[in-house]
Amino acid sequence: MRLLSTLVAPAHHSCQRALFAFAVLLLSGCSGGRPLPSGIDRQALRDIAPAEDLDPAPGVVEVRLRASQVEYKFFDGGMSEVLAYNGQVPGPLIEARAGDRVIVRFQNDLSQPSTIHWHGIRLSPGMDGSPLSQDPVPPGGSFTYDFIVPDAGLYWYHPHHNEEEQIQSGLYGPLLVRGTNEPAFTRERVIVLSDIMLDRMGMPMPMDNSTDDPYMQALGMEGNVLLLNGQRMPVIELRPGCRERWRIVNSAGARYFKLALPGHAMTLVGVDGGLIEAPVAIGSMLLAPGERADLVVDSGTAGQGAGVLLNQSYARLADTVFTPPADTELAIVLTKGAPVDSPPPIPAHLRTIEVPDTPHPQRSITLNAALDPPLPDPPLLASAMEDGGMGGGGNGEGAARFMINGAIWPEVPAFEVRRGEAEVWEIYNHTQMDHPFHIHGFHFQVLDLNGEPWPWRGWKDTVNVPAGNGGENRLHILVQYEGEPGDWLYHCHILHHNAMGMMAAFTVNP
Ligand code: C2O
Ligand code: CU
Repeated sequence: MRLLSTLVAPAHHSCQRALFAFAVLLLSGCSGGRPLPSGIDRQALRDIAPAEDLDPAPGVVEVRLRASQVEYKFFDGGMSEVLAYNGQVPGPLIEARAGDRVIVRFQNDLSQPSTIHWHGIRLSPGMDGSPLSQDPVPPGGSFTYDFIVPDAGLYWYHPHHNEEEQIQSGLYGPLLVRGTNEPAFTRERVIVLSDIMLDRMGMPMPMDNSTDDPYMQALGMEGNVLLLNGQRMPVIELRPGCRERWRIVNSAGARYFKLALPGHAMTLVGVDGGLIEAPVAIGSMLLAPGERADLVVDSGTAGQGAGVLLNQSYARLADTVFTPPADTELAIVLTKGAPVDSPPPIPAHLRTIEVPDTPHPQRSITLNAALDPPLPDPPLLASAMEDGGMGGGGNGEGAARFMINGAIWPEVPAFEVRRGEAEVWEIYNHTQMDHPFHIHGFHFQVLDLNGEPWPWRGWKDTVNVPAGNGGENRLHILVQYEGEPGDWLYHCHILHHNAMGMMAAFTVNP
């Protein structure tokens, strides 16, 4: 099982003890003059540099995004060759207000074609950056994206062409749309979670379709360096008594983050498509690739000192043989400085979310997989090979197939619906691993998992469909076709699953 544990929990094992020593030093207040353990960068978490708004007119945000290969320093000790927007990882923060027009002048200076997809934005299909809506912009080419951002929330952007390589090499960035009447707290941060796989020379190693590592085939590649705003193990400084709003996106290609901050109160106030109806106190927050969380974080009750933002153990492969990865540390959370007097309260009601009251026909979506080569461990293999799908259809190519309703992209039949209507989608996970399910162009509400009502009401565009439960998980979402007519994608946001076929289209008629 060495291979599996290396793949699933690659980062920070070797520096856990060192981190603990470092935290003890901070707590005892005698860190002065002691050299830091190697591999830990004690830099304050940076705000992501914003994109410059080139248009002074109110209601219009115009920015430039140039994708190119650059040398980038993730931490002391080496430069990495990455792909980046405007030379930074993550790409620049684009900020707008709900209803604004956003114009993005995209210049592709990569050596391969690319596009930009505006993940979660309900926009017109021609601006979606997907293979249904646009031919990729060739190397040296440019394209102007021009769209309205109708909904407040934290969104993000990334290529929708050769995503496995391009996103996992550094092409992703946040798009923050502010609403009117948003709750204000001591401070707001935008935090982009990601990871990257670097080799010994610090060079990224994106997974390509030819990998024969069965675990990568099954779970998608997780990086060996975990990043917050492009930084490894930064320090987040809180003032005693503060209450901060953390707006977090998981931009990783495959890694799940289950965030916990022991000793601090955390409250969920928003998800992908903005505020939820009412705040929910939470002990941890699971974020699958593509999902966002809007969290209110209180400084610890312990007063001054160091805490740790954890990525808690989470098993996204359901099997009794599978050992979930251990908890890992993401950031040091240091409480220091002048106390904040009385932090603003969290409103008891954040927003009214209506359940569309049209008839809701039900649509069935089944997620299935056939792995080739199979996972090596027999019991694991037995359960991962659901519906007898051994051997990848005998094509001998050694490729896994990740399917929707038994077919791979682009062979999954598209369906047609009408703008303004709503439907319940039953998403049946018939595999032994989780899948983050994403719909372009429209928002949905999560209703229930196996009949258990969802713990909060809000709008989403990406939701994790868990494995386990004997391969019998049925998640129900209510999709509201309130957006633009056209051809739209839905797919798994584990980039490898997407690349191996777990993607399909639907048409919204006017
Ligand atoms: Cu963020 Cu079609 O994806
Ligand atoms: Cu998937």
